Amino acid sequence: MVEQKILAKGSRLYLRPIALEDIPSYQAWMNDPAITRYLESRFRSWSADDLKDYIAQEAKRPLGGLMAIVRRNDDRHIGNIRLSSVNPVHRTASVGLLIGATDSHGRGFGSEAIGLVADLSFGAFGLRKLTAGVYASNVASHRAFLKAGFMEEGRQKAQWLDGETYVDGILLGRLGTIQA
Ligand SMILES: CC(C)(COP(=O)(O)OP(=O)(O)OC[C@H]1O[C@@H](n2cnc3c(N)ncnc32)[C@H](O)[C@@H]1OP(=O)(O)O)[C@@H](O)C(=O)NCCC(=O)NCCS
Repeated sequence: MVEQKILAKGSRLYLRPIALEDIPSYQAWMNDPAITRYLESRFRSWSADDLKDYIAQEAKRPLGGLMAIVRRNDDRHIGNIRLSSVNPVHRTASVGLLIGATDSHGRGFGSEAIGLVADLSFGAFGLRKLTAGVYASNVASHRAFLKAGFMEEGRQKAQWLDGETYVDGILLGRLGTIQA
């Protein structure tokens, strides 16, 4: 188990800052076209050193950027979730995630991780609103955000290339309970 501060804890998962020990699993996911199909990181390959640099860069971001999604029952690192575009004036940020362990897909881990990052953002991080963007063809991601309380806020027609087709982008948002 990686000894690090737990940022948020749910019924089956917890979030902690990503660590160098996470690189082997992370690297396998980042180079798997089935996992990265809807991610903008898919247009290049990723070495362990690339990810080390990326993790160091993310750690300098406001609110620490990249977090590991870990199962509570076996401390297995199954994915990552990231807050980006943090705006301290508007108190907004954007959420992106990947569940890389394919045997953990479709079991509600994605929606639980999004819920945990929302609790952390609206609680300790003092944010007011989170946003996300998904390819319309990424049904699992769209569903996972809706299950975690996000609402559809708009559609961008034919925004993204998915295979050989341009698909809509769906913009999602979730407000925290305290708007002040
Ligand atoms: C998208 C992702 C985070 C979803 O995580 P997950 O743990 O599988 O999601 P959940 O189990 O919480 O919810 C998925 C929902 O989508 C549904 N779903 C999954 N695949 C589906 C498909 N192909 N068609 C229709 N529904 C689908 C599931 O049934 C579930 O809905 P339900 O609970 O109402 O039945 C995960 O698949 C992933 O990381 N994929 C690769 C990276 C990625 O695409 N990230 C998102 C970029 S925005």
